Amino acid sequence: MERTLVIIKPDAVQRGLIGDIITRFERRGLRIVALKMIQIDKALAERHYAIHKGKSFYEPLIRYITSAPVVVMVLEGNKAIEIVRRTMGATNPAEAAPGTIRADFGVDIGRNLVHGSDGAETAAFEIPLFFTEQEILSYARDTDRWIFE
Ligand code: RTP
Ligand code: MG
Repeated sequence: MERTLVIIKPDAVQRGLIGDIITRFERRGLRIVALKMIQIDKALAERHYAIHKGKSFYEPLIRYITSAPVVVMVLEGNKAIEIVRRTMGATNPAEAAPGTIRADFGVDIGRNLVHGSDGAETAAFEIPLFFTEQEILSYARDTDRWIFE
């Protein structure tokens, strides 16, 4: 089963949207296997967003993601990576499809509420930046057979 890293970004925490955003993923049926609240420091932000170093939005992005606490989670499920990305919507909330988190709660690209790993390799790189193996739980839910084929 696939795992992906989700970050509920500082703007979403400040706006009181932690519950709404977690609910969206829970309702889809994804299993939360790790979850904590942290404030990302500059060093961690630079590792997580290393791929964007040198781009025009890099410095504001680092300032944004380190500006206040975030909630980080590992979600698990069949096709979890793609399902999370589709549940989040396009990077720019102005272009995101209605019904997605970024469209329903956001306006600007630099305040887009949520992060999700964009592929299997990215997830494998990102998850250990935030969680030890011990912090990621393996468990089954009684509902799993009604969600996963
Ligand atoms: P994320 O990594 O945060 O899940 O977002 P993403 O994959 O949808 O977008 P990505 O291209 O990885 O960009 C990372 C974050 O940088 C900010 N950004 N600003 N002003 C701009 O053109 C611009 N482009 C990207 C966004 O906050 C985006 O989520
Ligand atoms: Mg990205």
